[in-house]
Amino acid sequence: MSDLGNALVYKGVNSLMLYNLKEVISDDFLGIISGFFSDDNIEEIMHDGVGCVKVYHAQFGMCETNVTLSSTDVDGMISKAVAFNGKVLSDSMRLFDGTLPDGSRINVVLPPVAVNGSAITIRKFKKHVMTACDLVNSGVMNQEVCAFLWCCLDGLGHRPANILFSGGTSSGKTTLLNALSLFIPFKSRIVTIEDTPELRMPFSNIVRLETSFEPLIDMDMLLRNTLRMRPDRIVVGEVRGAECKSLFTAMNTGHQGCMGTIHANDARETIEKVVNPPMDVPSVMLKALDLIVMVARKNVGGKITRVITEISEVGGFENDVPRLNTIYTFDANKGELRRTGVPSKIRAKISEACGMAPADFDRILRERTGVIDNLCRLRLDVSGFKKAVDEASGF
Ligand SMILES: Nc1ncnc2c1ncn2[C@@H]1O[C@H](COP(=O)(O)OP(=O)(O)OP(=O)(O)O)[C@@H](O)[C@H]1O
Ligand SMILES: [Mg+2]
Repeated sequence: MSDLGNALVYKGVNSLMLYNLKEVISDDFLGIISGFFSDDNIEEIMHDGVGCVKVYHAQFGMCETNVTLSSTDVDGMISKAVAFNGKVLSDSMRLFDGTLPDGSRINVVLPPVAVNGSAITIRKFKKHVMTACDLVNSGVMNQEVCAFLWCCLDGLGHRPANILFSGGTSSGKTTLLNALSLFIPFKSRIVTIEDTPELRMPFSNIVRLETSFEPLIDMDMLLRNTLRMRPDRIVVGEVRGAECKSLFTAMNTGHQGCMGTIHANDARETIEKVVNPPMDVPSVMLKALDLIVMVARKNVGGKITRVITEISEVGGFENDVPRLNTIYTFDANKGELRRTGVPSKIRAKISEACGMAPADFDRILRERTGVIDNLCRLRLDVSGFKKAVDEASGF
């Protein structure tokens, strides 16, 4: 057994690392698991009904811990979380999604649906919103890709792109969307739509909408209402069902800069999900989608890192089947994204909207790559980064 800071490695067969919580502080809300909140490396805290609490550690992956919870601890924690979210526990409520006072996301499954006892999963959020430069510095993308996404997010002031951020569970979609949102011009009116509030966008002109069970207001109802709110940007936390068609209707009726996250393993699968039930978007509507940005956890140089693995566009249609153009692809040997050389449609659209030649887009892209490079060295916080980006954008 070797000591790795707080985490101890058990060398037995099939065993997980043990995360040894040394300082057990108990607060009113979360009891003894509150100790896990002070370690920024812990991404997820899980209790499966029996046994010890498990955590997902950024470096060591899934770990068992030396903390166990009694059923009284678990019931108390759930009651407080449900009450904090303004809800009441009842026999008809067996599934619960909500937030904790620090903004973390909590999911609870109650017996008898959870066969071994109440299952709790907490997605911990970093105390600070990561900037695009934090993501560059941690290897999610390089400076050029970051500058390209900046140009697409603000559309150089004329033609912001419609983008889906796609990837597997916990691949970093929401974190990427939050970070890139800092490229949206500060004067934009943003409306966000979510089941559980996870989007963190430091704007003054933002309306945050959340679904509700009682009265029943779902994502699709919120999206259709949003169209009457004069939004400059519509951002959907997680696209899952009928709201996807409304989102594509918005894109097709001239709303630009619409964005959302979606669960899928590659760009082709993203399209398949969008055009099939329950989303059921007619494939002809896909022409309004400018980019699919894929993100995944990959082993890069022996380290599990979140990376953008692909940036694709809907290039056209062959017999109603959308053709995907991959403009950036992940080079496994170099461990980074590289430009494929396929001409980008959004580059052409932004250039046309700005009344300039595509070569001017390339010049601005190079200039912005330099700006990002400098900002990444300065390691600014969110407000410093936003100010610098708005100044560099010039609008
Ligand atoms: N680039 C990153 N560097 C460090 N931590 C990250 C990074 N991206 C994401 N994380 C952390 O990983 C966890 C999952 O990230 P996130 O919520 O963005 O994933 P997701 O793909 O949106 O997940 P879900 O599928 O559940 O919606 C969070 O704790 C987040 O803080
Ligand atoms: Mg997410």
